Amino acid sequence: MAIGPTTVLSRPAGRPSASITVLGSTGSIGKSTLEVIALHAEYHVFALTANSNVPVMVEQCVRFQPRFAVMVDGQAAEQLAGELRKAGSATKVLSGAQALVEVATHPEADTVMAAIVGSAGLPPTLAAVEHSKKMLLANKEALVMAGELFMRTLAASNAVLLPIDSEHNAVFQCLPPESRLAGGDIRRQGVRKVILTASGGPFRTLPVEQFGDVTPEQACRHPNWEMGRKISVDSATMMNKGLEVIEACFLFGVGPEHVEVLIHPQSIVHSMVEYMDGSVIAHLGSPDMRIPIAYSLAWPERINSGAAFLDLTRQADLQFFAPDLERFPCLRLGMEAAARGGTAPTILNAANEVAVESFLSGKISFTDIPAIIAAVLAQMSCDQADTIDIIRQADEQARATARRIITETELGNGLSAPTG
Ligand SMILES: NC(=O)c1ccc[n+]([C@@H]2O[C@H](COP(=O)([O-])OP(=O)(O)OC[C@H]3O[C@@H](n4cnc5c(N)ncnc54)[C@H](OP(=O)(O)O)[C@@H]3O)[C@@H](O)[C@H]2O)c1
Repeated sequence: MAIGPTTVLSRPAGRPSASITVLGSTGSIGKSTLEVIALHAEYHVFALTANSNVPVMVEQCVRFQPRFAVMVDGQAAEQLAGELRKAGSATKVLSGAQALVEVATHPEADTVMAAIVGSAGLPPTLAAVEHSKKMLLANKEALVMAGELFMRTLAASNAVLLPIDSEHNAVFQCLPPESRLAGGDIRRQGVRKVILTASGGPFRTLPVEQFGDVTPEQACRHPNWEMGRKISVDSATMMNKGLEVIEACFLFGVGPEHVEVLIHPQSIVHSMVEYMDGSVIAHLGSPDMRIPIAYSLAWPERINSGAAFLDLTRQADLQFFAPDLERFPCLRLGMEAAARGGTAPTILNAANEVAVESFLSGKISFTDIPAIIAAVLAQMSCDQADTIDIIRQADEQARATARRIITETELGNGLSAPTG
């Protein structure tokens, strides 16, 4: 039998079933998650959530018949309810941000895919951890902005956290099994460093003088991955790798000095772990997010992901370079925030979200993004990131500061690029 993308396989004896809430189901990761779920009869969709994308949510509800569908936007929720009534669907529609928390913590959902983009994903993701769910974490911003609190909450719960970011999923697979879920210092297991690979994005070789003219469409055209617009811009500035350095520090309990970034334009080696004895264990695969999603859904077993198998004989070259921090100041800012700790990552993340949104809506240029983030970090003091109130406060203050700087930029007080 040929296994096509929508072929439903029978449930193998003994494999446990799962009831899944997909937060951010209408996005790139959400859709890939549903593609993997569709291949396996043992996975059931308990709830789907989105912000406002009614047409995609209607299709998903009709196909996967979840108990609940959440639209954060109230009008979109009304529209969805009307469309689903017409389609004869039994799915119950909820609305508002609190409904995200309800479906992420519901006793009948045992697994939660956290695939909302940005800080909006933090409350339902953290709540699901508190409720000891099996967590599939794509929403890196939640971990970056509240890492200490997040990892403390994880340690106090019975939740299992599986990273979906392809790099962290790769590291997870290359670590000794006993240290993968601990959130403790992996160096005790003989690890010397974690090596995160980065494609270098669409502007890896573009002359720096042309960065100021880059358009949102160019920035969103990634050479190897199809992703949502925010993470695509983050990949183009390499802030994505900066956020991932912070994410790696929290997930694997190491300082940024034990996390190296290597540019690898082919996106075939997804990351590596170097051990004290000189061994390097790497994870390879096609650049397809269904691979880490399938790995995490089935963990500790393995299932078909629907992704193409890798044929290394057709892969001309695998290259690796050190990143150029002058070309990509956002990566440097991310590494510095990781080293500073406290609320520095919270501030970095909030300023980046505001700057990327402003770039995508045409208010600022591509080169303004790092300049705004650097200015916000320079203007704010960093505190211990102990409580959710401190994190919220730092997040709000950083957003307000970034917006003020952007308004000043619009009034003609241009920004200068951050220097190393
Ligand atoms: N795409 C990738 O390959 C990839 C790889 C690694 C990690 N990640 C991470 O995964 C997360 C999702 O990325 P993506 O590329 O899938 O993003 P995306 O395509 O933009 O999708 C984002 C999802 O979040 C929902 N959403 C947006 N704003 C929201 C809000 N305020 N409240 C509730 N829901 C909201 C969207 O709903 P609407 O459709 O209604 O707007 C959509 O379902 C990000 O944190 C990203 O960094 C992505």
